[in-house]
Amino acid sequence: MGAPGRRAVEERLRGLREELGASFCVVNGENLADGVGITPKLATRLLAAGADVITLGNHTWRRSEINSYLETSERVIRPANFSKFAPGRGLTVAAAEDGTKVAVINVMGSLFLSPAVAMFEVIDELVEEARAQTPVILVDVHAEATSEKVAISRWLDGRVTVVVGTHTHVQTSDARVQPGGTAAITDVGMTGPHDSVIGVKGDQAIYRMRTGLPVRFETAEGGVRIEGALVECDESGRATAIEPVRVAYP
Ligand SMILES: [Fe+2]
Repeated sequence: MGAPGRRAVEERLRGLREELGASFCVVNGENLADGVGITPKLATRLLAAGADVITLGNHTWRRSEINSYLETSERVIRPANFSKFAPGRGLTVAAAEDGTKVAVINVMGSLFLSPAVAMFEVIDELVEEARAQTPVILVDVHAEATSEKVAISRWLDGRVTVVVGTHTHVQTSDARVQPGGTAAITDVGMTGPHDSVIGVKGDQAIYRMRTGLPVRFETAEGGVRIEGALVECDESGRATAIEPVRVAYP
């Protein structure tokens, strides 16, 4: 989320990866540019800081500079269930530190958001396409509704390694490995300023909600945390553990 989140990632991600023994790292970057959207320059910085793949969400198109970048990028993906005429892709495969291929899929839920088609219409085909290349698969479900995220986690149980939710910026306490071997967490939370209303300066968000008047939102600054989840899996792609990550910065 914004510059505070980016600074935390740039200064701490490499060290954190080492401490946690994380050989692959996916970062959702849709709030990187002043809280909404992402630019090619910022995407490059996040990748240089230790993100292997960047996923996006409903704010993907906020900065038009990203459009042409997404056409060719193999490491920055956007929800697969956007219009088929939009640039970019929703599935990519990249190598972890030990050479293991990891597929990353990005889809978006329907509540309060506007995918071109429902994620359930595209997910099976995407998983098949990913499984043809590797059994280690992460799905980022960018969605508002906990129900949609729990439902797709169950639907994919046994077919992917982990389903992580993003978008609400509030980490949920339901990290679990499901019976079929797919780990899941409804929302991994926010890397950014938590002394805020989901990253925005609190007084601005409250003013808009109380009055209904338009306000230009600014990213807050205080209470920065790196939030996410650490997933372990075996070589068959089956998850063996998932733990929420929640680290204060600095
Ligand atoms: Fe979002």
